Amino acid sequence: MMKKVAIYLFFLIFSGHLFAQEPNSEVKEIKKVFIDNLLSKMTLQEKAGQLRLISVGGDLTLDKVLDKIEAGEIGGIFNTVVEPDLSQMQERALKSRNKIPLFFGFDIIHGHRTIFPINLGIASTWDRSAIAKAAEVSADEATSDGLNITWAPMVDITRDPRWGRVSEGFGEDPYLTSEAGRIFVEKMQKQSLADKKSLVTSVKHFALYGAVEAGREYNSTDMSERKMFQEYLVPYKAAIDAGSRAVMVSLVSVNGIPATGNHWLLTEVLRNQWHFDGVVVSDHGAIRELINHGVASDPKDAVRVAIKAGIDISMNDEYFLQFLPELVEEGAITEDEINQACRHVLELKYDMGLFSDPNRNLDPKLDIDTMFADNRLHREEARDVARRSIVLLKNENEILPLAKNKKIAVIGPLADSKRDILGSWSGAGRANLAVTPLEGIKNAVKNPESISYAFGANLSDDKNLYRFLNLYGETTKFDNRPADKMIAEAMKIAKKADIVIAFVGEAEGMAHESSSRTELSLQATQKQLIKAMKKTGKPLVIVLMNGRPLTLSEEYAQADAMLETWFLGTEGGNAIADVLFGDYNPSGKLPMSFPYNVGQIPVYYSHLNTGRPRGTENMGKYTTSYFDSPNEPLFPFGFGLSYTNFAMDFSLSSTKMNRDGEIIVTVNVENTGNREGMQTVQLYLQDVTASVSRPVKELIGFDNITLKPHTKGQVKFVIKYDMLKFWNNKMQYVAEPGKFNVYIGSDSTTQDKQTFTLLD
Ligand code: BGC
Repeated sequence: MMKKVAIYLFFLIFSGHLFAQEPNSEVKEIKKVFIDNLLSKMTLQEKAGQLRLISVGGDLTLDKVLDKIEAGEIGGIFNTVVEPDLSQMQERALKSRNKIPLFFGFDIIHGHRTIFPINLGIASTWDRSAIAKAAEVSADEATSDGLNITWAPMVDITRDPRWGRVSEGFGEDPYLTSEAGRIFVEKMQKQSLADKKSLVTSVKHFALYGAVEAGREYNSTDMSERKMFQEYLVPYKAAIDAGSRAVMVSLVSVNGIPATGNHWLLTEVLRNQWHFDGVVVSDHGAIRELINHGVASDPKDAVRVAIKAGIDISMNDEYFLQFLPELVEEGAITEDEINQACRHVLELKYDMGLFSDPNRNLDPKLDIDTMFADNRLHREEARDVARRSIVLLKNENEILPLAKNKKIAVIGPLADSKRDILGSWSGAGRANLAVTPLEGIKNAVKNPESISYAFGANLSDDKNLYRFLNLYGETTKFDNRPADKMIAEAMKIAKKADIVIAFVGEAEGMAHESSSRTELSLQATQKQLIKAMKKTGKPLVIVLMNGRPLTLSEEYAQADAMLETWFLGTEGGNAIADVLFGDYNPSGKLPMSFPYNVGQIPVYYSHLNTGRPRGTENMGKYTTSYFDSPNEPLFPFGFGLSYTNFAMDFSLSSTKMNRDGEIIVTVNVENTGNREGMQTVQLYLQDVTASVSRPVKELIGFDNITLKPHTKGQVKFVIKYDMLKFWNNKMQYVAEPGKFNVYIGSDSTTQDKQTFTLLD
């Protein structure tokens, strides 16, 4: 009997498996004993080592890193996807005094080897199953490739398209972003961290990175606590509630205090209020940046500020190891503080099952190149998510979809670019395997000879921009031919064709970390190209490839049809062809408003009303307005057309609701057109009168329905009491009795409204 118990305990201790699933008190105790025991044997130096995340590169050659690992100076590795190297590193970790295994991290933002659309594109699907597919395939490939932790999902709310990283997030809305973040966490981490296919998530960037002033990278943020808790913090909380075991801290300051040194944010909110018990990781080099921020006097002081605020692991920083032991000896921090951080790391490793199987993701037999090249299923899934991400912005005279027997001129600097279509943060993707739009179009038609192509124009004639984009190796092609020659060539081809498709937008490097812009229009070279195409008199389809909302009034007027395709990933070209030829009826909806001009920014649908809402009389004078621009965006949040049309009406189950009651919203949807299509039904709410001003509308639900031509269907939503809660005038999270407007529509401008009253 004793033997059986011992075997059972051994299994529990070393499997880690049961802990992540259903940790009962006995199981928790066993884990605690294991970690207490380990901690009691570790030196201060070794504990500091566990708090370091290091990448191989620069002065830190693999050999140096291996020695440091064996000396117990490194807890985790990031940014390496060479599996034999990872295996070697793990081997050396197991030779260290305490034999604590490493974990291996990488930025798996929108796919790993098979690249999916950028996250703004994934959000455009408004389709939970598509979001799930992207997350699942990413985790599957990453964990087969030696990795077990990632720095994703990025759920920063973004309302300023000048910021390049809007491409990495899920847009402007807390609910849509929370849903996407939750799904990423659930599908990447899975039920149990000990599952070999589980990829630990680090929700980022906590917090408010997306709210940087003027959209300028790494800038400050300043925001009322109400707005934070009501909107910007919501998605991080959703990801943590879904179980994200790590959090990455943002590089910016939050109300005057850098997030990396912000005790209120990292300890009072994250740990005490939200009960987060995972690992808090600083962003790249963020500890030393505390000196530049002006809250630490020198490197040692920066380490003190960070650890005191609640950072557990430092990313790519030399100072934790150098100064943590010294700070304890001097009494500036306590050993308990280091133990606490170290415990978080060891618990995570324990729950991942690394102590029982350090090589859980390392399979030297697996040849990743073969896996990637042969992975038809993943590519099919990527193609499906990609076509669902495409947003049809205009389709005059139903010019789309195109017949497959037309002569098509494919024009533009992005039409045949394999690197750009992958988008940023696709480091482990293979550009040579990506399908460009030109290739996708040729794949789709019966006679590829009917497709002609011209580069047409450089993305820009600004040489500085190219220097910026190609700083670390040439990714964006610059054609040295004179501009008029290239345009003339494109015109010649266009004139011979039945239709022109122009691929314009941004290079992938323009929508990345450190790529803020002040102008959001297409560059002059691209504008000239479009003007020339227009001049040919041929029908013009503009296909946009970009990582942020652009200002597109001019192109909108010129185009007969317009598609927003973001950066769609490995299968992008095929997905674009699917939509152009109607093999897929576009269903994407914008997750961010597209402004008319930069001066309107921030422009987002869920703004507050003012005392003087925009009026239409007397040119809007003395009401909230600009005299030179509309208030509204060119394309609103939630907007996207289809090749068919949908009619909708809806009813509420009651006009009154009790605290313990609910309202059922029944939406009748009819496909009134001649093609099968999918509609995303969007549910918005407005709390009409409350103790604080509430937004004119907030998204609280969405669902998809696919209907055959001339058929009807129903979508139902349930509005519950908790969904009416907000942070009131005393910063309590409550629902206040009174009138609520419910809106149903196909985008955020819907005026289709019903009303109910929440009773006291
Ligand atoms: C970015 C993070 C990323 C990290 C590691 C930083 O520069 O801000 O989002 O996870 O690098 O690559």
